[in-house]
Amino acid sequence: MFGWKKQKQSAEMKALPEHIAIIMDGNGRYAKQRNRPRVNGHYEGMQNVKRITRHASDVGIKYLTLYAFSTENWSRPKSEVSYLMKLPGDFLGAFLPELIEKNVRVITIGDDDALPEHTIKAVSEAVEKTKNNTGLNLVFALNYGGRNELVRGIKKIAGEVSKGKLDVEDISQGTIDRYLYTAGMPEPEMMIRTSGEYRLSNFLLWQSSYSELFFTDTFWPEFTTDELDQMISQYQKRSRRFGGLDEEEV
Ligand code: IPE
Ligand code: IPE
Ligand code: MG
Repeated sequence: MFGWKKQKQSAEMKALPEHIAIIMDGNGRYAKQRNRPRVNGHYEGMQNVKRITRHASDVGIKYLTLYAFSTENWSRPKSEVSYLMKLPGDFLGAFLPELIEKNVRVITIGDDDALPEHTIKAVSEAVEKTKNNTGLNLVFALNYGGRNELVRGIKKIAGEVSKGKLDVEDISQGTIDRYLYTAGMPEPEMMIRTSGEYRLSNFLLWQSSYSELFFTDTFWPEFTTDELDQMISQYQKRSRRFGGLDEEEV
């Protein structure tokens, strides 16, 4: 009996997370430390998106969700915002053939409406060209905010109720899941934030309720695949109780 339990537990320990979400923070400070303009940090950050994406795809992660631009980031200087809006086009222009070759599917979450036309064009081309791919789902959170997502979802649900298509009594947690940008995706088992900040900054508020949190002082452009692997192995050793008890405590 005990042996079986042990075996089961070690099988669980080995399971890879299906979904990793990353708050890619610290680009500006990375650049500042090197006396470079902040946008150079964003450029280097984009190079790291390539390295981490390749690795996630190689190790068999199913979903990698990257916080690229928040609904609050519009408050930055105009020149920085326009650079950030240009990045998806630059990134995908150079990287899309490799993503296609690696069977990666590109998805976006967030409010597209406020994005410049050229950003939407670059992103929707990648989404369209990779829509039948079955490997890693690379999810870009672009003009994403957890509160904005909830307001949008609640409005849609209220609309269905007022049209008589949905009964108030039938609204469940599953209903809310289906009205979020992430409908159909698994919840992130791991949520990582780089750069030594300890907050969610409005990222995946609903979806991260039971995520395992990981923080590192490393700035995003310097976050390596080795550090990611270390976090994954830590994750595999953590006990996720979801409010219950560990098997041996029952
Ligand atoms: C994260 O890096 C990237 C975005 C928010 C777009 P920051 O630009 O926030 O870098 P720091 O936090 O100022 O160092
Ligand atoms: C969160 O980082 C947003 C992204 C990484 C895209 P911020 O740098 O915007 O977060 P705060 O302002 O430090 O909370
Ligand atoms: Mg920051």
